[in-house]
Order: sequence, then C-alpha cells, then structure tokens
Amino acid sequence: MQLLKALLFLLIPVTLALPVDVAAPVDNVLETRQSGPVTCGSNTYTVAQVTGARNSGYNYVKQGGTAGGSTYPHVYNNYEGFSFPVAGPYYEFPLLKSGAYTGGSPGADRVIFNKSGQRAGEITHTGASGNNFVGCSRTS
Ligand SMILES: *[C@@H]1O[C@H](CO)[C@@H](O)[C@H](O)[C@H]1NC(C)=O
Repeated sequence: MQLLKALLFLLIPVTLALPVDVAAPVDNVLETRQSGPVTCGSNTYTVAQVTGARNSGYNYVKQGGTAGGSTYPHVYNNYEGFSFPVAGPYYEFPLLKSGAYTGGSPGADRVIFNKSGQRAGEITHTGASGNNFVGCSRTS
C-alpha cells in the first residue's frame, strides 16, 4: 500500500505535465471547414446556409457566369487584410438568410472562397466603415 501511494505520488505530476495540445492540427482543419454557425452583424447562419452560398458562388466561377445580371461572384482583393486559412485569389458572393443569391440587392454579408471553391471565410459590411468589410464570427 505504501509502495502504491509512492508510485501514484510520483506518476500523477508526470501525467499532468504531458502536452495537451496534441489535437491542435485537427482543430485547425475543422476551423477551416467551419465547425458551427457564423454570425455577421445580427444575422446568424448555419453551416448548411454558408456552405450553400459558397457552393452556389463557386458554381458560377466554374461555369463562367454571374448571378442574375449582377456582378457576383467577383474577385475579392482582401484590402482589409484578413488572414484567411487558404491561398487566394479569392471570390466574394452574397450570403443571404433566404436561400441562394440570384441577383438584386446583395445585402451586407458575403462568403469568401478561393479558385478551387475552398472556404476562406465570411465577411460583412455591418459594423464596417464605408464600403469596407469586417470579419463575421469565424473570420479574422
Ligand atoms: C485554394 O486553397 C487551397 C488550400 O490552401 C489550395 O490547396 C488550393 O491550391 C487553392 N486554390 C487555388 C486555385 O489557388
């Protein structure tokens, strides 16, 4: 019994001192893929809504058109300097609460993706000055 106590006394601090961030690279991958809802200003979007907007925008890039006589999707130059997790060039496409954007008013919120359709992030005019963008809740 004394020996067991002594062993525990020696082992517990060693166990507690082991590195705990072994899973960090996995977390980063999940973050790139968007692991939960996104809030832009007062609008909250599900993963499915954001993914839908991104797929819709990327389809236009692949097929070489724009939505309903609008200019979207178009190249986004990232003048704001967001640190997106994927390489550019980037495209922006409106992110709506009411389904896929098909032209008309784009609203304030956007999805950003690269030339292969990879998620870069979500940005919004809400809370930004002039025509600038700020990051939504999962984009900085
Ligand atoms: C999009 O981003 C991914 C991840 O960084 C990268 O592998 C891919 O080459 C990028 N696409 C283009 C066309 O740059």
